[in-house]
Amino acid sequence: MAVNLPSSSLLLPLIFLFLIFITVNGQHFTIPESTIEEIQQAFAENKLTSTQLVDFYITQIKTLNPLLHSIIEVNPDARDQAKNADEERRENQGRRSLGDLHGIPVLLKDTIGTKDKLNTSAGSYALVGSVVARDASVVEKLRKAGAVIMGKASLSEWYKFRSLSHVPNGWCARSGQGVNPYLVTGDPCGSSSGSAISVAANMVAVSLGTETHSSIICPSDHNSVVGLKPTVGLTSRAGVIPVAPSLDTIGPVTRTVSDAVRVLDVIVGFDPRDYEATQRAAKFIPAGGYKQFLNPNGLKGKILGIVRNPFLKSLNESIFPIFEHHLNTLRERGATVVDNLEIANINTIVDPSRSGELTLVMAEFKLSLNDYLKDLITSPVWSLADIIAFNKNNPDLEKNKEYGQDTFIAAEKTNGIGEKERKAIELMEKLSQNGFEKLMMENNLDAMVTPGSGATSVLAIGGYPGITVPAGYDINGMPFGICFGGLKDTEIKLIEIAYDFEQATMMRKPPLLESFQMTPEFLSGSL
Ligand SMILES: *[C@@H]1O[C@H](CO)[C@@H](O)[C@H](O)[C@H]1NC(C)=O
Ligand SMILES: *[C@@H]1O[C@H](CO)[C@@H](O)[C@H](O)[C@H]1NC(C)=O
Repeated sequence: MAVNLPSSSLLLPLIFLFLIFITVNGQHFTIPESTIEEIQQAFAENKLTSTQLVDFYITQIKTLNPLLHSIIEVNPDARDQAKNADEERRENQGRRSLGDLHGIPVLLKDTIGTKDKLNTSAGSYALVGSVVARDASVVEKLRKAGAVIMGKASLSEWYKFRSLSHVPNGWCARSGQGVNPYLVTGDPCGSSSGSAISVAANMVAVSLGTETHSSIICPSDHNSVVGLKPTVGLTSRAGVIPVAPSLDTIGPVTRTVSDAVRVLDVIVGFDPRDYEATQRAAKFIPAGGYKQFLNPNGLKGKILGIVRNPFLKSLNESIFPIFEHHLNTLRERGATVVDNLEIANINTIVDPSRSGELTLVMAEFKLSLNDYLKDLITSPVWSLADIIAFNKNNPDLEKNKEYGQDTFIAAEKTNGIGEKERKAIELMEKLSQNGFEKLMMENNLDAMVTPGSGATSVLAIGGYPGITVPAGYDINGMPFGICFGGLKDTEIKLIEIAYDFEQATMMRKPPLLESFQMTPEFLSGSL
């Protein structure tokens, strides 16, 4: 899509981030950095409409996407959905609550299926033109809640699973290299890179990502946003392009903890299409939802564990003092910090090729991806083997020569869940029981606290939840977060802890985008 931008687009995007406000009935409302709660209040007070919000984000996307490459497709129906929401709100006249996400634009990672004009392609041309049978269950829930589907976010193509060693973080064929809005040379991480970049740069209100191994936590950490990885099964995976159902989970990527929790409240729950996992986890969803646990005194009485080896060993010297300062804040807020703890076999746990994780994920990927593809109504590819052939036949389209597809080829050679995979599952369970579970139980911990995304291997192999909150910036301006990880089904505690920490520190700053060059594509505004 080519767009003609007014000459004001020659000014720094800074202007879009700070000076654009909406004026309705003579009242001002500043959209960038506003929370769902603030937006809903502005809706209620007639200071803002959902249509204006969508128009603002479309302008932001036209301006910034040529630079950041974080969005693959904008929903042609987004504006109509917003108009419908506005109409509904007018008719409702505040009589009943329409819900937190009503009229709120939500961006979806490009692996989350939508039955509309948008493609669901994992960032690859191989799936463009495929038609899903129905919306992913989380999308059904979003639509029912009145959310506006804004579009599809870019990602590390196929979750990086085309080639774990060669596909760069944040790169996919359809949108090119995703860029960290804080540091043009910074790693955006992945695989939910587009979700994190877009939210960080105020190109949308909130987004959804997915995590198998670090894919929500790491990009959120690197792009200074909040990422919530729910316990596996708390959110349905039905209709989402899979990696490995034993580990996969869908979760919010947002600017604040309260936004993440409002999105979580809408997308959780039992789903017959993802029966076993959601049935188990749904038992732990609190009556009245998670929002009630946005407790400004949530750290009081909590016990938090620090595992320095290996999570603080490689910490950059410029962020080390900030992290130590945050530990003091946690103590001041009433938490007990238990330091210098250890996780048994941690070196094995953090190495997917030794923990059993990679063995299991490779086999599950082939099985579950083939199942996903078989359910499509139409598709250019119907199996992993077809995708491999597609890449072979289109070497230039998919940068196949540079990045190859060695992980695809290795996965194709697997043959279901056999002896080797069963042993891998057993090993992962044992490592989790003797490692993270023992650490948490023996020390009576409510959460483990780690800087950055180092703990995501621990969370991956046990299906455990985690939440990352912006915690600061290194000497070059590169963001980092603090991750709170917990045992299965302990979202309530994690939300209390994360919210109190966020409110006490308020470390997130919107990106200034000053380090960016005005490239020819940027100036021409071609999207
Ligand atoms: C989906 O892909 C088709 C085929 O390339 C394209 O024509 C269409 O515009 C895409 N949809 C959107 C919303 O971009
Ligand atoms: C810390 O990070 C900066 C850039 O973000 C880098 O230049 C420096 O080498 C890092 N230091 C260590 C010890 O990794």
